[in-house]
Amino acid sequence: MRVIFYTGKGGAGKSVISSATGLKLAQMGHDTLIISSDPAHTLSDAVETRVQHTPTPIDDNLHAIQVDPIREVREKYGVIQEYIVSLFKSRGLDEVLAYELAALPNMTEFISMLKIVEFVDSYDVVVLDTVPSGEALKNIYLPSLLGASATKLIKLIMPFANIGKLVEPLVGMPTPDREVIKEDIKLLELLEQLRKIIVNREVTSLRLIANPDTFSMQNMKRTHLLANLYDINVDLAIINKVIPEEVHDSYFHEWKNAQAKLLLEAESAFYPLPIKKLRLFESEIKGLKLLNRVGEELFGDEDPAKIYFEGRAVEIKEHENGSLEVIVPLPFAAKDVCSVERTGEDLSVVISTDIGEIRNFIPLPAIAQIMQLAKAKLFNGALHIFFISGDG
Ligand SMILES: Nc1ncnc2c1ncn2[C@@H]1O[C@H](COP(=O)(O)OP(=O)(O)OP(=O)(O)O)[C@@H](O)[C@H]1O
Ligand SMILES: [Mg+2]
Repeated sequence: MRVIFYTGKGGAGKSVISSATGLKLAQMGHDTLIISSDPAHTLSDAVETRVQHTPTPIDDNLHAIQVDPIREVREKYGVIQEYIVSLFKSRGLDEVLAYELAALPNMTEFISMLKIVEFVDSYDVVVLDTVPSGEALKNIYLPSLLGASATKLIKLIMPFANIGKLVEPLVGMPTPDREVIKEDIKLLELLEQLRKIIVNREVTSLRLIANPDTFSMQNMKRTHLLANLYDINVDLAIINKVIPEEVHDSYFHEWKNAQAKLLLEAESAFYPLPIKKLRLFESEIKGLKLLNRVGEELFGDEDPAKIYFEGRAVEIKEHENGSLEVIVPLPFAAKDVCSVERTGEDLSVVISTDIGEIRNFIPLPAIAQIMQLAKAKLFNGALHIFFISGDG
């Protein structure tokens, strides 16, 4: 049983790479399901088959699903959603839950996550092509967040269920009837199952996709950090649309130089996470033939179901005295920390090495942003950054 998520900014190549991974997996003999929540139906375009909301055959050992959030909500979670919305309307009791469940963009991803629970036992590998969002990963760890607030919500509303409509004017909010509560509990159980699957490092891998530009890479670093925070195993990073070596057109000269520099930086920034590169093809990638080629170039003889890496690239420790330690492993022999400076949400650290000074941008967890930077030290091949509480 394997669950593979692909995440990355809009247009990075999630749909192409998840389809190519699915094809390769199927050819390796794994019974595979691709789940896409992309409303633009790019999966259908890529595989040139009308992908339905139920498992649609694509090739030998390969099925795909195009999640239809509106249908799913209506058929399965309608009762809850109606209630959540009414709750929200009456000023809401748990705004996080109400917002998350009632807002359709997130609902889409949420529903495709629940699809994992539905199908994980019926296939060897489930590949998820997620839709991009500012904080794409939030949708992946949402189940664990929701897990907690949903329990709170149930506890709060449970006592009112019996007295029902009678107390409505008193508490100033609609009360759920028994049916809602029954559905709610079912949903909670699903969420709990989902959470267990996602944090199981032997089952679920998150794979990051970025294009070789500064913005895209920055986004990838942040996602990497968040995944670490939420205990989701990231096993591979893919840099897609790299201009190939053999292109010598002077028009691309600057692009190639900039990309080479970014790729080098990525190797140090994501160390020890393995990084794969995929070249920019001569055309858009549509149809099984081109997707097969992508799979071939990305994975060769490898089985894409393997766990490419297991571990935490950035470790965050909370100490008893309230201080926070962020540990970043370094790929090079570092001699000294020359300077540490905050740049927006990141930390810019200059380290001297045998080959000169190297600057690293390290994204910080939200909590560190309200803390004071105390010191940065090198030991055991890693950079240790300490934060203390703001007024301390
Ligand atoms: N290596 C590549 N070479 C050439 N074209 C590519 C490559 N990778 C992706 N593309 C093209 O780039 C476009 C975006 O790719 P894709 O749809 O896979 O991205 P996405 O991350 O799923 O985007 P969205 O966030 O919109 O869902 C598509 O037209 C696709 O064919
Ligand atoms: Mg897509």
